[in-house]
Amino acid sequence: MPFDAHAAQTLARRFPADFVWGVATSAYQIEGAAHEDGRADSIWDEFCRRPGVIRDGGSGDRACDHYHRLESDLDLIASLGVRAYRFSVSWPRVQPRGAGAWNEAGFEFYRRLVEGLRRRGIEPHLTLYHWDLPLALQLRGGWTSRGTVQAFVDYAVEVVRRLGAGVASIATHNEPWVVATLGHEVGSFAPGIKSRRLAMQASHHLLLSHGAATRALRDAGCERPIGIVLNQAPIHTASDSAADRAKARLEDGLLVRWYMDPLLLGRYPADVLEHLGPDAPAVEDGDMALISQRLDFLGLNYYTRTVVNVGGIPVDERERRPLTDMGWEVYPEGLTEILVRLRADYRVPPLYVMENGAAYGDEPVDGRVADVDRIAYLRSHIAAVANARDAGVDVRGYFVWSLLDNFEWADGYSKRFGIVHVDYSTERRTVKDSGLWYRDFLRASDCAESVDPERPAEFRDLQARI
Ligand code: FCB
Repeated sequence: MPFDAHAAQTLARRFPADFVWGVATSAYQIEGAAHEDGRADSIWDEFCRRPGVIRDGGSGDRACDHYHRLESDLDLIASLGVRAYRFSVSWPRVQPRGAGAWNEAGFEFYRRLVEGLRRRGIEPHLTLYHWDLPLALQLRGGWTSRGTVQAFVDYAVEVVRRLGAGVASIATHNEPWVVATLGHEVGSFAPGIKSRRLAMQASHHLLLSHGAATRALRDAGCERPIGIVLNQAPIHTASDSAADRAKARLEDGLLVRWYMDPLLLGRYPADVLEHLGPDAPAVEDGDMALISQRLDFLGLNYYTRTVVNVGGIPVDERERRPLTDMGWEVYPEGLTEILVRLRADYRVPPLYVMENGAAYGDEPVDGRVADVDRIAYLRSHIAAVANARDAGVDVRGYFVWSLLDNFEWADGYSKRFGIVHVDYSTERRTVKDSGLWYRDFLRASDCAESVDPERPAEFRDLQARI
């Protein structure tokens, strides 16, 4: 697809010059080196060893071998012209047993990562927890146990003590809904538990650990912006029936309000608590105040909307939108809708789209990956962010998921989200057309005029130092 410089400039001009454009990854999905330099097992290492749970039988043992290819991967990121990189720290790499001794070799890797980014003029955005809990902690109850909250606080404080000065932002958790619901209720993700009661207790401990860590980091003098990243989506209905509407309200309660209400309003939604009955979590005095600490930013991951269809109404072919390789509907309006809704319903801090992207089964042909569908997906979702900004929502950044094709959890290596293709037999990287499109779009945005130079001082200062 020829690059339309004019269209790119027009889109780019809808964003301020200091809008944060980035790419995102997470530790377990790309690092590999799972048994090297003192790293111990996480719950995902153990989960992947269970027969039949990962679609292609894969694991993060080798993944993209990023651990051994750090310098060339950093060069790759720089070659795309992105200004920000979101990554996560693997807890069992820096604290193998989840308590007690720190692993210097693990910290050395992340020190090189942060410094390598800064040297290349790229803002590092740190996520403390992207799902790889040390297995040793799971054996003591993991997120279903209140003791894990303090373990997370100790881990967060030490990571930020060592790396914090170099990073542009700190997110405590990535998608606690996924950890709680897919990990503890559905059981399709690690640790593979199937109990609604334990899932809701885990969600409470995740939120509590977010609040406790945020307070501890600030008490320790951390001045970096601290936030959390939630997966959020509008819940639509296939019909106007009372059953569909009631189900949609409940799904919205479990996905959106269960996380937003405690974080921003200091309470769980009453209708969801009532629905949960005995499965509602045990909450102690002071918990809600701790959870609702001030947020410096809120990260949002968006892929698709949810459509509730209690009656199983057949979808009119004319209404059908294209699906990605995940079977997820391409629905960019949903991103505008959820951003506008969060601003309307809550006093939200500055928002960042911390993940957005699409899986398509693309392979190189003569050294080129012509992933036109992904380009269309990214362009339409970036436009959706611009629409939300036009509607008055303070969105300050956008990160493509993902830099590289990688280990897509229970789907193993069968789903490719990268704007860079990875050949897993050789670990060869090939920038896809979408990666080239993003690079050219960012160049266009460099040339586009700023319309709104407002930016938090912390980010500006960091940029100046990089
Ligand atoms: C999100 C996860 C991320 C990736 C994308 C496709 O839920 O945060 O690690 O798997 O989905």
